[in-house]
Amino acid sequence: MSSILELIGRTVRKSVEPEPGTTILEHAIKHKVDWQHMCTRGTCARCRCYIEEGAQFLAEPTKAEIARLDPEEIEEGYRLGCQAVVKEAGSITARNKTYF
Ligand code: FES
Repeated sequence: MSSILELIGRTVRKSVEPEPGTTILEHAIKHKVDWQHMCTRGTCARCRCYIEEGAQFLAEPTKAEIARLDPEEIEEGYRLGCQAVVKEAGSITARNKTYF
């Protein structure tokens, strides 16, 4: 099975190798995808993203995500890029979708 993390930033889109134990935001920074972020602690929500594919390859939402995002958002597939850790290799597509 192919294992690719597709990162869709504001203007840059890249397919990179998913590294388990690493957050979506850390992947984006490492691979120079223009992914919005500020706090990296799960409070500003600039790193919010929509997981178009492969949510099952991410670890469960953290306490910070549960506090910051509405339950409906989490259910719809939104995560915070600085909190969402890749749990295992797989095909994942994440699109940075901030509120503003
Ligand atoms: S960078 Fe602020 S919530 Fe992720």
